[in-house]
Amino acid sequence: MRDKARIADVLEALTLEEKASLLSGGGAWETAAVERLGIAPAVLTDGPHGVRRQADAEHFSLDASLPATCFPTAAALGSSWDADLLTEVGEALGAESRAAGVAVLLGPGVNIKRTPLCGRNFEYLSEDPVISGQLGAALVRGIQRRGVGASVKHFAANNQETGRMQISAEADERTLREIYLAGFEHVVTTAAPWTVMAAYNKINGVHAAQNGWLLTSVLREEWGFDGLVMSDWGAVWDPVAAAAAGLDLEMPATGGASAARLVDAVKEGRLQEAVIDRAVARVLTLLDRVAAAPGPAGEADFARHHALARRAAAESAVLLKNEDAILPLDPAARMTLAVIGEFARTPKFQGAGSSQVNAIRVDNALDGIREAAGEHLRISFSPGFLLSGADDPALLAEAVSAAEAAETAIVFLGLPDGADTEGSDRAHIDLPDAQLRLLRAVAEVNRNVVVVLANGGVVEVATWEQHTRAILEGWLNGQAGGGAVADLLFGRANPCGRLAETIPLRLADTPAYLNFPGDGAAVRYGERLYVGYRYYDAKDLPVSYPFGHGLSYTTFAYSDLHAVVDGEGEEAVVRLQLTVTNEGQVSGKEVVQVYVGDVASSVDRPVRELKAFAKVEIALGRSARLNFELRARDLSFWSPVHRRWVLEGGDFEVSIGGSSRDRPLTATVTVPAPPLATPLTLASTIGEWLADPAAGPVLRQAISAMPGSALASDPTVLRMVESLPLGHLIPMTGSRLDITGVGQFLDQATGETS
Ligand code: BGC
Repeated sequence: MRDKARIADVLEALTLEEKASLLSGGGAWETAAVERLGIAPAVLTDGPHGVRRQADAEHFSLDASLPATCFPTAAALGSSWDADLLTEVGEALGAESRAAGVAVLLGPGVNIKRTPLCGRNFEYLSEDPVISGQLGAALVRGIQRRGVGASVKHFAANNQETGRMQISAEADERTLREIYLAGFEHVVTTAAPWTVMAAYNKINGVHAAQNGWLLTSVLREEWGFDGLVMSDWGAVWDPVAAAAAGLDLEMPATGGASAARLVDAVKEGRLQEAVIDRAVARVLTLLDRVAAAPGPAGEADFARHHALARRAAAESAVLLKNEDAILPLDPAARMTLAVIGEFARTPKFQGAGSSQVNAIRVDNALDGIREAAGEHLRISFSPGFLLSGADDPALLAEAVSAAEAAETAIVFLGLPDGADTEGSDRAHIDLPDAQLRLLRAVAEVNRNVVVVLANGGVVEVATWEQHTRAILEGWLNGQAGGGAVADLLFGRANPCGRLAETIPLRLADTPAYLNFPGDGAAVRYGERLYVGYRYYDAKDLPVSYPFGHGLSYTTFAYSDLHAVVDGEGEEAVVRLQLTVTNEGQVSGKEVVQVYVGDVASSVDRPVRELKAFAKVEIALGRSARLNFELRARDLSFWSPVHRRWVLEGGDFEVSIGGSSRDRPLTATVTVPAPPLATPLTLASTIGEWLADPAAGPVLRQAISAMPGSALASDPTVLRMVESLPLGHLIPMTGSRLDITGVGQFLDQATGETS
């Protein structure tokens, strides 16, 4: 294994041309080699929910890859709210990667679901950065535990597919820090991914793969990232600018063109050779990590992974409604069950694009239902609609008569091909008309309709849910999802998924509605931090199903919240204890969610934000005592003025429950923190100066020392000038305002001391 000294030796031995050649791909799916020095290529493969190992590493193609387990997509896994489960899935992904000779798996994707329209939402975990960060980190830990690198993508603000190669995400820094970067930050600082993938889009005008603020100042200098940054495939426009910004590896191969440009730039003095050396050292470090992978690769245990995929799919499904406890179905019942919808037989279990896995096998729900049903349960199946979306009156009529002859109808609905896909966004969030016509017709002849959904991005339910007694949101749930759905319908598994994304009443209610998808050149994140539930809660808008929602076949009661605050300021810790009791008839899992809101703040803040969660299994009749700790960062906001996270002392409302809109436990805690000193300059307003606990009295003194001034004698006049910068007021007073005394408070760092 190479250590730092050894890497220095290799760097010494490489020519400039060889070094530059290592900074772009050696093929479509591998790093470059330098045979002369025994530097072998490493294979990089998609990701994120299965291994898509192209048999032909030379050429870029999305054609059939080697068979692999297709795990539930991130839209599903995010809804599990179960970090341990994601680590297990990560380990399985790592094991399959190793067995396939893959060094780095290109995932997970931790971009925020800014709008339900994003075509790639199925590859992302949540609208919330705490879930994205914690579950993303869990996946990374699992993958890397198997000696395979993860690549956290797409860094950053890649929240739409429309114009993804050139669109500029225009967002203020606070919004970026609190929403779009926070998940990446958590993954980088807690799970140490071997690699990060820079996104296609620009951020505030600069391509992510060429963005020095993003790749160097934030990622490395602030977060301490010590891995390798690669580009998304084809994301680099200018390899010299990219290297200077901190990109280490451009993917895929460019036929030597980028290497030549790097060499020229060094020779012409436009790029320091040290920049190349630094990036090459990171490539070599990655190769070391790959070489140091423990133990032999071994064969992948596909049977075990299939069982894990089934369990993961069951953990991820969200039971949205369940009137009169129509679910679970009794497998021993003497009745007829009409299974309706082509998706029951031909499952929709993954999305399209680079994440598409050649699944080892695919289970459908119809077989799972038949297998779970007892001998007295009669099951009919009617496809009901064509996957193409075209109307087929005969199919519809057949499904309606099957529903008429049955006690209960299970209707499988979902998004058509092309809706959940890389490369384009959706235009709406509706299910296809033909499917909704079928649902209405079935509901006219059968009161007991259960809908099972298959979709990667949320769909509108408000206009049709009254036709159903229950809705099970299955997501795109991987190759074993069919069996998992059957497990849930018959109560062999108890639903325990929770929405990691709000289901809005209608598209027009969504936060980015008026600011999406931009004008081709730029998309303005005008909703700022008010993404997902942060927006609906700030506006007190009704939604179909809130963030965090999901039913179980049992019920949980919350009690005995105990909250104490230890320490102050940056050292403050809020310790929470509470009890959750399973009051129902079966064992089940609850997702306990801790939300925090700042009662009074100097800046606008979301009403409440998720800061901690835990999924806990509680046997029937039993209780669990849970502990949570909130740290200063959980209470802070990003201050563009102070250029850091800021905790303002005062009261915070902590509320805990099973969804963002069902929080039976509440406590107000007072967290002490030193007063916030605002950097004061001559550009700061009189109001800002007067509000400062130290400088305020001194300035007030200087003002009252101005003889005959209305400022000194009339509070109304003083209030009128509060918005004036101090530097403007001085000449307006004929320079009678003597600021000698306040000079000591002028912020040295800004250089505005005179
Ligand atoms: C996608 C990445 C993917 C890469 C390689 C790009 O188009 O955005 O997510 O890892 O292709 O297939």
